[in-house]
Amino acid sequence: MRRREFIKSSGLSAITAFAGSSFLLNACHTEEDMIGEPNWIVDGSFNQPLFLPVVISGNPQLTIQTTSGQMVGNTTTSVLSYRNGPLGDIIKVSKGETVNVQVQNNLAEPTNIHWHGLIVPENMDGHPKDLIPAGGSFTYTLPIQQRAGTYWYHPHPHGDTARQVFMGLAGLFIVTDSEETALNLPSGEFEIPVIIQDKRFSGSSLDYSPTPDEIMTGYLGEEVIVNGIYAPYADVPKSWHRLRILNGSTARVYNLAFSNGMVFYVIGSDGGLLSVPESVTSLMLCPGERADVLVDFSGLPLGQAVFLISKKFSQYDLQGRQEFKILKFVVEGAASANFTLPSSLSAIATIPTSSAIETRIFDIAAMIGGMGGHGGMGQHSINGKTFDMDRIDETVQAGTTEIWEFDNMMGDEIHPMHIHGVQFQVLERIGGRNKIIATEKGWKDTVLLMPGEKVRVIMTFSTYAGVFVLHCHNLEHEDDGMMLNYRIQ
Ligand code: C2O
Ligand code: CU
Repeated sequence: MRRREFIKSSGLSAITAFAGSSFLLNACHTEEDMIGEPNWIVDGSFNQPLFLPVVISGNPQLTIQTTSGQMVGNTTTSVLSYRNGPLGDIIKVSKGETVNVQVQNNLAEPTNIHWHGLIVPENMDGHPKDLIPAGGSFTYTLPIQQRAGTYWYHPHPHGDTARQVFMGLAGLFIVTDSEETALNLPSGEFEIPVIIQDKRFSGSSLDYSPTPDEIMTGYLGEEVIVNGIYAPYADVPKSWHRLRILNGSTARVYNLAFSNGMVFYVIGSDGGLLSVPESVTSLMLCPGERADVLVDFSGLPLGQAVFLISKKFSQYDLQGRQEFKILKFVVEGAASANFTLPSSLSAIATIPTSSAIETRIFDIAAMIGGMGGHGGMGQHSINGKTFDMDRIDETVQAGTTEIWEFDNMMGDEIHPMHIHGVQFQVLERIGGRNKIIATEKGWKDTVLLMPGEKVRVIMTFSTYAGVFVLHCHNLEHEDDGMMLNYRIQ
Protein backbone atom coordinates (compact mmCIF):
# COMPACT_ATOMS: atom_id res chain seq x y z
CA MET A 1 0.00 0.00 0.00
CA ARG A 2 1.26 3.46 -0.80
CA ARG A 3 1.88 5.54 2.26
CA ARG A 4 -0.81 8.10 1.60
CA GLU A 5 -3.44 5.43 1.05
CA PHE A 6 -2.29 3.79 4.24
CA ILE A 7 -2.67 7.04 6.13
CA LYS A 8 -5.96 7.96 4.56
CA SER A 9 -7.39 4.56 5.36
CA SER A 10 -6.02 4.33 8.88
CA GLY A 11 -6.77 7.93 9.82
CA LEU A 12 -3.67 7.88 11.99
CA SER A 13 -0.45 9.73 11.54
CA ALA A 14 2.55 7.72 10.56
CA ILE A 15 4.52 8.93 13.54
CA THR A 16 1.76 7.94 15.93
CA ALA A 17 1.74 4.59 14.23
CA PHE A 18 5.48 4.31 14.69
CA ALA A 19 5.11 5.20 18.36
CA GLY A 20 3.21 2.00 18.68
CA SER A 21 -0.38 1.14 17.99
CA SER A 22 -0.85 -2.53 18.62
CA PHE A 23 -3.44 -2.69 15.86
CA LEU A 24 -0.89 -1.44 13.40
CA LEU A 25 1.84 -3.59 14.86
CA ASN A 26 -0.31 -6.58 14.13
CA ALA A 27 -1.20 -5.33 10.69
CA CYS A 28 2.38 -4.71 9.59
CA HIS A 29 5.49 -6.79 9.49
CA THR A 30 8.35 -4.33 9.89
CA GLU A 31 8.96 -0.86 11.23
CA GLU A 32 9.41 0.35 7.67
CA ASP A 33 5.92 -0.83 6.84
CA MET A 34 4.61 1.07 9.81
CA ILE A 35 6.26 4.33 8.81
CA GLY A 36 5.11 3.94 5.26
CA GLU A 37 6.03 2.77 1.82
CA PRO A 38 9.80 2.16 1.81
CA ASN A 39 10.23 2.44 -1.96
CA TRP A 40 8.64 5.80 -1.97
CA ILE A 41 10.39 7.32 -4.99
CA VAL A 42 9.81 5.53 -8.27
CA ASP A 43 13.01 5.44 -10.35
CA GLY A 44 12.31 6.37 -13.96
CA SER A 45 13.95 5.19 -17.16
CA PHE A 46 16.39 8.11 -17.53
CA ASN A 47 15.88 8.39 -21.27
CA GLN A 48 14.76 12.03 -21.49
CA PRO A 49 17.45 14.63 -22.16
CA LEU A 50 18.05 17.09 -19.32
CA PHE A 51 16.34 20.40 -19.97
CA LEU A 52 18.62 23.41 -19.54
CA PRO A 53 16.74 26.59 -18.60
CA VAL A 54 17.51 29.62 -20.75
CA VAL A 55 19.86 32.17 -19.18
CA ILE A 56 18.64 35.76 -19.31
CA SER A 57 20.23 38.99 -18.12
CA GLY A 58 19.56 42.69 -18.35
CA ASN A 59 16.15 43.70 -17.01
CA PRO A 60 14.01 40.57 -17.31
CA GLN A 61 10.28 40.51 -17.86
CA LEU A 62 8.51 37.60 -16.24
CA THR A 63 4.94 36.58 -16.97
CA ILE A 64 3.50 34.37 -14.29
CA GLN A 65 1.06 32.10 -16.03
CA THR A 66 -0.53 28.73 -16.34
CA THR A 67 1.27 26.96 -19.11
CA SER A 68 2.29 23.44 -19.95
CA GLY A 69 5.34 21.33 -20.45
CA GLN A 70 6.47 17.76 -20.84
CA MET A 71 7.67 16.67 -17.42
CA VAL A 72 7.12 12.94 -17.76
CA GLY A 73 7.96 11.45 -21.15
CA ASN A 74 5.81 12.95 -23.89
CA THR A 75 2.88 13.61 -21.61
CA THR A 76 1.81 17.23 -21.45
CA THR A 77 1.32 18.55 -17.93
CA SER A 78 -0.20 21.84 -16.91
CA VAL A 79 2.16 23.89 -14.72
CA LEU A 80 2.49 27.35 -13.26
CA SER A 81 5.51 29.13 -14.65
CA TYR A 82 7.42 32.37 -15.04
CA ARG A 83 7.60 31.83 -18.77
CA ASN A 84 6.01 29.71 -21.47
CA GLY A 85 7.11 26.29 -20.21
CA PRO A 86 8.15 24.70 -16.92
CA LEU A 87 10.34 26.50 -14.38
CA GLY A 88 11.69 30.00 -14.68
CA ASP A 89 14.59 31.14 -16.83
CA ILE A 90 17.93 31.53 -15.09
CA ILE A 91 18.40 35.21 -14.30
CA LYS A 92 22.13 35.97 -14.41
CA VAL A 93 23.49 39.29 -13.20
CA SER A 94 26.76 40.81 -12.05
CA LYS A 95 27.48 42.20 -8.63
CA GLY A 96 27.04 45.97 -8.69
CA GLU A 97 24.16 45.96 -11.17
CA THR A 98 20.68 47.12 -10.26
CA VAL A 99 18.24 44.77 -11.91
CA ASN A 100 14.64 45.67 -12.66
CA VAL A 101 12.42 42.63 -12.98
CA GLN A 102 9.04 43.46 -14.49
CA VAL A 103 6.50 40.94 -13.35
CA GLN A 104 3.06 40.43 -14.83
CA ASN A 105 0.78 38.14 -12.82
CA ASN A 106 -1.54 36.42 -15.27
CA LEU A 107 -2.71 33.88 -12.70
CA ALA A 108 -6.23 33.98 -11.29
CA GLU A 109 -4.72 34.27 -7.80
CA PRO A 110 -2.31 36.59 -6.00
CA THR A 111 1.35 35.74 -5.90
CA ASN A 112 4.68 37.51 -5.44
CA ILE A 113 8.37 36.78 -5.81
CA HIS A 114 10.91 36.26 -3.07
CA TRP A 115 14.54 36.46 -4.17
CA HIS A 116 15.84 33.72 -1.93
CA GLY A 117 19.29 34.62 -0.62
CA LEU A 118 19.41 38.12 -2.05
CA ILE A 119 19.72 41.02 0.35
CA VAL A 120 17.33 43.63 -1.02
CA PRO A 121 15.10 46.38 0.43
CA GLU A 122 12.06 45.28 2.39
CA ASN A 123 9.50 46.20 -0.27
CA MET A 124 11.43 44.18 -2.89
CA ASP A 125 11.90 41.05 -0.79
CA GLY A 126 8.58 39.37 -1.52
CA HIS A 127 7.30 39.45 2.05
CA PRO A 128 3.93 37.64 2.19
CA LYS A 129 2.18 40.97 2.85
CA ASP A 130 3.36 42.33 -0.50
CA LEU A 131 1.32 40.45 -3.08
CA ILE A 132 0.73 41.07 -6.75
CA PRO A 133 -3.02 40.64 -7.26
CA ALA A 134 -4.47 38.45 -10.00
CA GLY A 135 -3.93 40.30 -13.26
CA GLY A 136 -1.62 42.83 -11.59
CA SER A 137 1.98 43.75 -12.23
CA PHE A 138 4.96 44.91 -10.22
CA THR A 139 8.56 45.84 -10.95
CA TYR A 140 11.10 44.52 -8.50
CA THR A 141 14.19 46.73 -8.30
CA LEU A 142 17.06 44.65 -6.99
CA PRO A 143 20.38 46.33 -6.16
CA ILE A 144 22.87 43.45 -6.37
CA GLN A 145 25.51 44.22 -3.79
CA GLN A 146 26.47 40.74 -2.69
CA ARG A 147 28.87 37.97 -3.59
CA ALA A 148 28.68 35.76 -6.60
CA GLY A 149 26.47 32.80 -5.86
CA THR A 150 23.55 30.59 -6.78
CA TYR A 151 20.38 32.19 -5.46
CA TRP A 152 16.80 31.49 -6.53
CA TYR A 153 13.34 32.96 -6.83
CA HIS A 154 9.93 31.62 -5.94
CA PRO A 155 6.50 32.79 -4.69
CA HIS A 156 5.72 33.64 -1.05
CA PRO A 157 1.96 34.19 -0.53
CA HIS A 158 1.18 32.97 2.97
CA GLY A 159 -0.68 29.68 2.94
CA ASP A 160 -0.12 29.18 -0.79
CA THR A 161 3.65 29.09 -1.13
CA ALA A 162 4.02 25.31 -1.16
CA ARG A 163 1.35 24.73 -3.79
CA GLN A 164 2.59 27.50 -6.07
CA VAL A 165 6.18 26.25 -5.87
CA PHE A 166 5.08 22.63 -6.34
CA MET A 167 3.04 23.61 -9.41
CA GLY A 168 6.20 24.96 -11.02
CA LEU A 169 7.08 28.44 -9.83
CA ALA A 170 10.84 28.47 -9.20
CA GLY A 171 13.94 29.70 -10.98
CA LEU A 172 17.65 30.21 -10.42
CA PHE A 173 19.14 33.65 -9.90
CA ILE A 174 22.89 33.62 -10.46
CA VAL A 175 25.18 36.44 -9.38
CA THR A 176 28.71 36.66 -10.77
CA ASP A 177 31.60 38.85 -9.65
CA SER A 178 35.22 39.43 -10.59
CA GLU A 179 36.59 37.18 -7.86
CA GLU A 180 34.60 34.23 -9.14
CA THR A 181 35.32 34.97 -12.79
CA ALA A 182 39.07 35.00 -12.08
CA LEU A 183 38.87 31.36 -10.98
CA ASN A 184 37.92 30.25 -14.51
CA LEU A 185 35.57 27.61 -13.21
CA PRO A 186 34.00 25.24 -15.75
CA SER A 187 31.45 27.24 -17.75
CA GLY A 188 29.32 27.01 -20.87
CA GLU A 189 28.40 23.38 -21.50
CA PHE A 190 30.52 22.43 -18.48
CA GLU A 191 28.29 24.34 -16.07
CA ILE A 192 25.01 22.55 -15.44
CA PRO A 193 22.08 23.85 -13.39
CA VAL A 194 20.47 21.02 -11.42
CA ILE A 195 17.13 21.98 -9.87
CA ILE A 196 15.88 18.96 -7.94
CA GLN A 197 12.21 18.63 -7.01
CA ASP A 198 9.88 15.78 -6.15
CA LYS A 199 6.41 15.64 -7.63
CA ARG A 200 3.27 13.58 -7.58
CA PHE A 201 1.05 13.10 -10.57
CA SER A 202 -2.52 12.10 -10.89
CA GLY A 203 -2.82 11.01 -14.48
CA SER A 204 -1.00 13.67 -16.43
CA SER A 205 -1.69 16.40 -13.84
CA LEU A 206 0.51 17.53 -11.01
CA ASP A 207 -1.16 16.50 -7.79
CA TYR A 208 -0.76 18.81 -4.82
CA SER A 209 -3.19 17.54 -2.20
CA PRO A 210 -1.50 17.16 1.19
CA THR A 211 -3.47 15.37 3.86
CA PRO A 212 -3.37 16.80 7.40
CA ASP A 213 -0.63 14.26 8.12
CA GLU A 214 1.36 15.47 5.14
CA ILE A 215 1.13 19.02 6.41
CA MET A 216 2.82 17.63 9.52
CA THR A 217 5.55 15.75 7.68
CA GLY A 218 5.77 17.71 4.46
CA TYR A 219 4.43 16.60 1.10
CA LEU A 220 6.75 14.00 -0.39
CA GLY A 221 6.65 13.22 -4.09
CA GLU A 222 7.05 9.94 -5.88
CA GLU A 223 8.86 11.19 -8.99
CA VAL A 224 12.09 13.15 -8.74
CA ILE A 225 12.41 15.71 -11.48
CA VAL A 226 15.46 17.72 -12.50
CA ASN A 227 14.97 21.04 -14.29
CA GLY A 228 11.33 20.09 -14.78
CA ILE A 229 11.98 16.64 -16.33
CA TYR A 230 11.38 13.28 -14.68
CA ALA A 231 14.40 10.92 -14.73
CA PRO A 232 16.58 12.77 -17.26
CA TYR A 233 20.07 12.11 -18.57
CA ALA A 234 22.89 14.43 -19.59
CA ASP A 235 25.81 13.55 -21.86
CA VAL A 236 29.01 14.89 -20.37
CA PRO A 237 32.48 15.11 -21.93
CA LYS A 238 35.36 13.51 -20.03
CA SER A 239 36.05 16.67 -18.09
CA TRP A 240 35.41 18.68 -14.96
CA HIS A 241 31.88 20.03 -14.62
CA ARG A 242 30.29 22.56 -12.34
CA LEU A 243 26.87 21.61 -11.02
CA ARG A 244 24.79 24.39 -9.49
CA ILE A 245 22.39 22.33 -7.43
CA LEU A 246 19.18 23.69 -5.90
CA ASN A 247 16.84 21.67 -3.76
CA GLY A 248 13.56 23.22 -4.90
CA SER A 249 11.38 20.57 -3.28
CA THR A 250 8.74 21.56 -0.78
CA ALA A 251 9.84 19.10 1.92
CA ARG A 252 12.26 16.46 0.68
CA VAL A 253 15.88 16.36 1.82
CA TYR A 254 18.42 14.73 -0.50
CA ASN A 255 21.64 13.04 0.56
CA LEU A 256 23.47 13.61 -2.70
CA ALA A 257 26.15 11.23 -3.95
CA PHE A 258 27.26 9.54 -7.14
CA SER A 259 26.34 5.95 -7.87
CA ASN A 260 30.00 4.97 -8.26
CA GLY A 261 30.87 6.55 -4.91
CA MET A 262 33.24 9.07 -6.50
CA VAL A 263 34.50 12.10 -4.68
CA PHE A 264 33.09 15.50 -5.62
CA TYR A 265 34.03 18.95 -4.44
CA VAL A 266 31.76 21.48 -2.80
CA ILE A 267 32.99 24.92 -3.86
CA GLY A 268 30.03 27.02 -2.82
CA SER A 269 26.87 27.09 -0.76
CA ASP A 270 23.87 29.41 -0.43
CA GLY A 271 25.86 32.64 -0.28
CA GLY A 272 28.62 31.89 -2.79
CA LEU A 273 32.09 30.38 -2.80
CA LEU A 274 33.67 28.60 0.13
CA SER A 275 37.24 29.50 1.06
CA VAL A 276 38.58 26.15 -0.19
CA PRO A 277 37.05 23.22 -2.08
CA GLU A 278 35.68 20.60 0.31
CA SER A 279 35.95 17.04 -0.94
CA VAL A 280 32.99 14.83 -0.06
CA THR A 281 31.34 11.60 -1.18
CA SER A 282 27.88 12.61 0.02
CA LEU A 283 26.11 15.84 0.87
CA MET A 284 22.80 16.53 2.57
CA LEU A 285 20.79 19.27 0.83
CA CYS A 286 17.56 20.51 2.39
CA PRO A 287 14.69 22.40 0.72
CA GLY A 288 15.82 25.89 -0.25
CA GLU A 289 19.56 25.10 -0.01
CA ARG A 290 22.04 25.29 -2.86
CA ALA A 291 25.33 23.52 -3.44
CA ASP A 292 27.91 24.60 -6.00
CA VAL A 293 29.80 21.44 -6.86
CA LEU A 294 32.72 20.44 -9.08
CA VAL A 295 32.91 16.90 -10.37
CA ASP A 296 35.54 15.31 -12.57
CA PHE A 297 34.26 12.85 -15.17
CA SER A 298 37.65 12.62 -16.94
CA GLY A 299 38.71 9.41 -15.23
CA LEU A 300 35.63 7.50 -16.35
CA PRO A 301 35.52 5.34 -19.48
CA LEU A 302 33.60 6.56 -22.51
CA GLY A 303 30.00 5.44 -22.47
CA GLN A 304 30.01 4.97 -18.70
CA ALA A 305 26.80 5.95 -16.95
CA VAL A 306 26.97 7.41 -13.48
CA PHE A 307 23.94 8.59 -11.52
CA LEU A 308 23.50 11.45 -9.15
CA ILE A 309 21.62 9.67 -6.40
CA SER A 310 20.20 10.32 -2.98
CA LYS A 311 21.50 7.92 -0.35
CA LYS A 312 19.69 6.76 2.74
CA PHE A 313 20.18 8.99 5.73
CA SER A 314 17.66 7.79 8.25
CA GLN A 315 15.80 4.68 9.17
CA TYR A 316 13.18 6.39 11.27
CA ASP A 317 11.92 9.43 9.40
CA LEU A 318 9.37 9.33 6.64
CA GLN A 319 12.15 10.32 4.32
CA GLY A 320 15.73 9.18 4.10
CA ARG A 321 15.01 5.48 4.26
CA GLN A 322 15.43 4.89 0.55
CA GLU A 323 18.22 5.27 -1.97
CA PHE A 324 17.03 6.53 -5.34
CA LYS A 325 18.37 7.93 -8.59
CA ILE A 326 18.04 11.59 -9.57
CA LEU A 327 19.99 12.28 -12.77
CA LYS A 328 21.98 10.10 -15.14
CA PHE A 329 25.28 11.30 -16.59
CA VAL A 330 26.69 9.49 -19.60
CA VAL A 331 30.36 10.09 -20.34
CA GLU A 332 30.57 11.06 -24.01
CA GLY A 333 33.44 12.59 -25.90
CA ALA A 334 36.92 13.69 -24.99
CA ALA A 335 37.77 16.64 -22.84
CA SER A 336 38.21 19.93 -24.60
CA ALA A 337 38.87 21.98 -21.50
CA ASN A 338 41.78 21.52 -19.18
CA PHE A 339 40.90 22.44 -15.64
CA THR A 340 42.76 22.15 -12.37
CA LEU A 341 40.90 22.34 -9.10
CA PRO A 342 41.96 25.59 -7.38
CA SER A 343 43.46 25.19 -3.93
CA SER A 344 41.71 28.29 -2.68
CA LEU A 345 38.52 29.95 -3.83
CA SER A 346 37.61 33.00 -1.84
CA ALA A 347 38.32 34.87 1.37
CA ILE A 348 35.61 34.41 3.96
CA ALA A 349 35.97 36.61 7.02
CA THR A 350 34.72 34.74 10.05
CA ILE A 351 32.31 36.84 12.12
CA PRO A 352 33.73 36.78 15.67
CA THR A 353 31.22 35.56 18.25
CA SER A 354 32.42 38.40 20.49
CA SER A 355 30.84 40.89 18.07
CA ALA A 356 27.33 39.54 18.74
CA ILE A 357 25.27 41.94 20.85
CA GLU A 358 22.42 39.52 21.41
CA THR A 359 21.61 35.81 21.33
CA ARG A 360 18.06 34.78 20.45
CA ILE A 361 16.73 31.28 20.93
CA PHE A 362 14.05 29.86 18.65
CA ASP A 363 12.25 26.73 19.77
CA ILE A 364 11.25 25.03 16.54
CA ALA A 365 10.35 21.66 18.04
CA ALA A 366 7.01 22.41 19.65
CA MET A 367 3.61 21.91 18.08
CA ILE A 368 0.81 24.13 19.31
CA GLY A 369 -2.91 23.54 19.50
CA GLY A 370 -4.46 20.22 18.64
CA MET A 371 -4.28 17.45 21.19
CA GLY A 372 -0.52 17.71 21.43
CA GLY A 373 1.88 15.59 19.44
CA HIS A 374 1.43 14.71 15.83
CA GLY A 375 -1.72 12.69 16.12
CA GLY A 376 -3.50 15.76 17.48
CA MET A 377 -3.00 17.84 14.33
CA GLY A 378 -1.46 20.82 16.04
CA GLN A 379 0.27 23.57 14.10
CA HIS A 380 3.97 24.03 13.52
CA SER A 381 5.27 27.00 15.41
CA ILE A 382 8.37 28.97 16.32
CA ASN A 383 8.65 29.84 20.00
CA GLY A 384 5.07 28.68 20.45
CA LYS A 385 3.73 31.17 17.92
CA THR A 386 2.35 30.78 14.42
CA PHE A 387 2.70 33.43 11.75
CA ASP A 388 0.79 36.66 12.20
CA MET A 389 1.30 39.07 9.34
CA ASP A 390 0.76 42.09 11.60
CA ARG A 391 2.81 41.02 14.60
CA ILE A 392 6.51 41.86 14.87
CA ASP A 393 8.15 39.01 16.75
CA GLU A 394 11.75 40.21 16.95
CA THR A 395 13.38 43.58 16.45
CA VAL A 396 17.06 43.94 15.58
CA GLN A 397 19.27 46.95 14.99
CA ALA A 398 20.53 47.60 11.45
CA GLY A 399 24.16 46.70 10.97
CA THR A 400 24.54 44.83 14.26
CA THR A 401 25.59 41.24 14.80
CA GLU A 402 23.55 38.58 16.60
CA ILE A 403 23.61 34.86 17.28
CA TRP A 404 20.39 32.97 16.60
CA GLU A 405 19.94 29.48 17.92
CA PHE A 406 17.43 27.07 16.38
CA ASP A 407 16.48 24.35 18.83
CA ASN A 408 15.06 21.11 17.45
CA MET A 409 16.49 18.96 20.26
CA MET A 410 13.06 17.77 21.34
CA GLY A 411 11.64 17.70 17.83
CA ASP A 412 10.90 14.69 15.70
CA GLU A 413 10.60 16.47 12.38
CA ILE A 414 13.06 17.87 9.84
CA HIS A 415 13.13 21.67 9.69
CA PRO A 416 15.21 23.64 7.14
CA MET A 417 15.32 27.13 8.69
CA HIS A 418 15.64 30.15 6.40
CA ILE A 419 16.14 33.81 7.26
CA HIS A 420 15.31 36.56 4.77
CA GLY A 421 17.43 39.65 4.31
CA VAL A 422 20.70 38.25 5.56
CA GLN A 423 23.45 35.70 4.98
CA PHE A 424 24.73 33.94 8.10
CA GLN A 425 27.58 31.70 9.20
CA VAL A 426 26.95 28.44 11.02
CA LEU A 427 28.77 28.36 14.36
CA GLU A 428 27.91 24.89 15.56
CA ARG A 429 25.50 22.00 15.49
CA ILE A 430 24.84 20.29 18.80
CA GLY A 431 23.17 16.88 18.93
CA GLY A 432 22.29 14.68 15.98
CA ARG A 433 25.02 14.93 13.35
CA ASN A 434 27.02 17.04 15.83
CA LYS A 435 29.09 18.75 13.16
CA ILE A 436 29.13 21.38 10.46
CA ILE A 437 28.97 19.93 6.94
CA ALA A 438 30.84 21.12 3.84
CA THR A 439 28.21 23.58 2.60
CA GLU A 440 28.03 25.09 6.08
CA LYS A 441 31.62 26.32 5.92
CA GLY A 442 30.50 29.27 3.79
CA TRP A 443 27.71 31.84 3.82
CA LYS A 444 24.23 30.45 4.34
CA ASP A 445 20.62 31.55 4.30
CA THR A 446 19.05 28.14 4.97
CA VAL A 447 20.23 25.54 7.46
CA LEU A 448 18.98 22.02 8.08
CA LEU A 449 17.89 20.86 11.52
CA MET A 450 17.36 17.15 11.76
CA PRO A 451 15.40 15.88 14.78
CA GLY A 452 17.49 16.16 17.94
CA GLU A 453 19.68 18.98 16.64
CA LYS A 454 20.39 22.50 17.76
CA VAL A 455 22.20 24.90 15.40
CA ARG A 456 23.71 28.29 16.22
CA VAL A 457 24.25 30.85 13.47
CA ILE A 458 25.81 34.30 13.51
CA MET A 459 24.95 37.19 11.23
CA THR A 460 25.31 40.89 10.70
CA PHE A 461 22.07 42.53 9.60
CA SER A 462 21.93 44.82 6.61
CA THR A 463 20.92 48.45 6.79
CA TYR A 464 17.70 47.84 4.87
CA ALA A 465 15.18 48.76 7.54
CA GLY A 466 11.86 46.96 7.49
CA VAL A 467 10.07 43.71 8.15
CA PHE A 468 11.53 40.42 6.97
CA VAL A 469 10.63 36.84 7.80
CA LEU A 470 12.26 33.84 9.36
CA HIS A 471 10.62 30.51 8.54
CA CYS A 472 10.87 26.82 8.00
CA HIS A 473 11.56 26.04 4.33
CA ASN A 474 9.58 22.85 4.57
CA LEU A 475 6.93 24.75 2.65
CA GLU A 476 4.05 22.79 4.17
CA HIS A 477 5.35 23.82 7.59
CA GLU A 478 5.75 27.41 6.44
CA ASP A 479 2.20 27.55 5.10
CA ASP A 480 1.03 25.94 8.35
CA GLY A 481 2.38 28.98 10.21
CA MET A 482 6.01 28.12 10.99
CA MET A 483 7.14 31.68 10.24
CA LEU A 484 7.83 34.87 12.23
CA ASN A 485 8.34 38.52 11.33
CA TYR A 486 11.50 40.29 12.41
CA ARG A 487 12.10 43.98 11.97
CA ILE A 488 15.41 45.61 11.13
CA GLN A 489 15.40 49.17 12.47
CU1 C2O B 1 12.89 30.45 -0.20
CU2 C2O B 1 11.00 32.75 2.54
O1 C2O B 1 11.89 31.54 1.19
CU1 CU C 1 9.62 22.71 9.49
